Amino acid sequence: MELPEELPQLYKRHIFACHTQRPPMHPRGSCGAAGAQPLWDRLGRKIEELGLGADIGFTASGCLGFCSAGPLLVIYPEGIWYRPQSEADIDTIVESHLQQDRLAEDLVVVLSR
Ligand code: FES
Repeated sequence: MELPEELPQLYKRHIFACHTQRPPMHPRGSCGAAGAQPLWDRLGRKIEELGLGADIGFTASGCLGFCSAGPLLVIYPEGIWYRPQSEADIDTIVESHLQQDRLAEDLVVVLSR
């Protein structure tokens, strides 16, 4: 059976935010060790406060595979990766990407395998 062209989507956008926490001196690093948790807490609060929960899925993910670049989140369906460093960065991503359908260009990270 071939893949269907398009299926009904549960969300307009779905955010996966890396919650992996390794010890501070771990050679791979981790988003948690880079300060991710307070940022994801802020993101969850903003989604709730702004009433975006019906359209925006927000999932705590495991390691996304680019640990030294963290904290990382990725937003689908666009497949845009962001590396926020502060709660102000989270607010920028919410306002720009989630509310205005615009890239938060300064926070985009382009990764390669
Ligand atoms: S620990 Fe976050 S991408 Fe690996």
